[in-house]
Amino acid sequence: MTVDAVVPADTAAARLGVAPSPLAQLLLGRTLGTADLASERGVDCPGDLPSPSDPGLVERARRARAALGDRAFVLGHHYQRDEVIEFADVTGDSFKLAQKAAARPDAEFVLFCGVHFMAESADILTGDHQQVVLPDLAAGCSMADMAGLQQVEDAWAAFEAAGLADSTVPVAYMNSTAAIKSFTGRHGGTICTSSNADRSLRWAFERGERVLFLPDQHLGRNTAVLQLGLELDDCVVWNPHKPHGGVTPEQLRRAKMVLWRGHCSVHGRFSAANVADVRERIPGVNVLVHPECRHEVVTAADSVGSTEHIIRTLEAAPPGSSWAVGTELNLVSRLAAAHPDKSIVFLERTVCYCSTMNRIDLPHLVWAMESLVDGRVVNRIEVDPDTAHWARVALDRMLSLPGSGTTRG
Ligand code: 13P
Ligand code: SF4
Repeated sequence: MTVDAVVPADTAAARLGVAPSPLAQLLLGRTLGTADLASERGVDCPGDLPSPSDPGLVERARRARAALGDRAFVLGHHYQRDEVIEFADVTGDSFKLAQKAAARPDAEFVLFCGVHFMAESADILTGDHQQVVLPDLAAGCSMADMAGLQQVEDAWAAFEAAGLADSTVPVAYMNSTAAIKSFTGRHGGTICTSSNADRSLRWAFERGERVLFLPDQHLGRNTAVLQLGLELDDCVVWNPHKPHGGVTPEQLRRAKMVLWRGHCSVHGRFSAANVADVRERIPGVNVLVHPECRHEVVTAADSVGSTEHIIRTLEAAPPGSSWAVGTELNLVSRLAAAHPDKSIVFLERTVCYCSTMNRIDLPHLVWAMESLVDGRVVNRIEVDPDTAHWARVALDRMLSLPGSGTTRG
């Protein structure tokens, strides 16, 4: 068995084998500064990448999956395409999938059909004898990449210089790189998911006067204001592209929530105008959104919750009820098809898939599985032991919060 790629932790740049950049969103070109527009980083596939038009693709996937048997465990995030979900042994949100991966120590290979930070979490939570594979290395997350390790270290140095580090507790969203989770563990903080963010924040406020919440400003603000009862004025936004985050030391000292200036490029698209528009078009519609949406969207909606909450809410909804859903389109389309007795529409009029999630397609899954059948581990995601240790400390703090170790709400 040979390993073709061992990928270090942190950011798209590290993932793609180049020096870290403060602006990590560099998908084109093989080297920083000399963009080669004919190439795309991270998408080299040693061996044969099947053509998407190969009529035998589904059959190849079935054969490779059967050949791997119990040696492999295929995880599919809810936002994946139908063609990929078809081959998932289990589907879930990022937290549930990490738990599921940890619960299968017998599986030699964990094929993660999701994005890079999820595969990292799976590697941290699985045994040393297990290998995690991401079928396309370009499946990153724009939100996770908005908080680079050096940027966060620089911000923390500013907290230290202002004498505020000892009274500040970092809380990192699951949707962050292993390096950021590790930073959080080293500095006494915890991880949260979109369903337990309130519990993680309460835990943090028992230990400090303020929270540094990263990388999703919207989840941080929505949770602090709507669930913990803080004021919008208690929150300041730390912009890593401005000197001292664009915040004065006095503003920092007075803040209870310091929100990293990051957002999800999918959920951040929904607007309050979308909510008003759908209410006008569909009288009686219920608006259901993910807490990664902007504050004005969440406050205009009828219900807010994690991906699993959205799924459960629609399952429990009465026949004939009408819903407009603000989350990733692959999931909304699948839910609409699964519940023909309810009217389920996408909150925005225009199409909005998560483009990086969609990098995982059937050709890449077939390529990864056939390579494993041939004895070659491709696109392995391996977090270095020190990063993994401290990230695990932060994850374990979250898992020990009451109600966090089992399922998501
Ligand atoms: P969950 O998987 O935790 O629902 O997060 C949503 C998301 O944006 C995944 O990338
Ligand atoms: Fe990242 Fe948003 Fe895509 Fe999730 S949906 S992977 S948070 S960009």
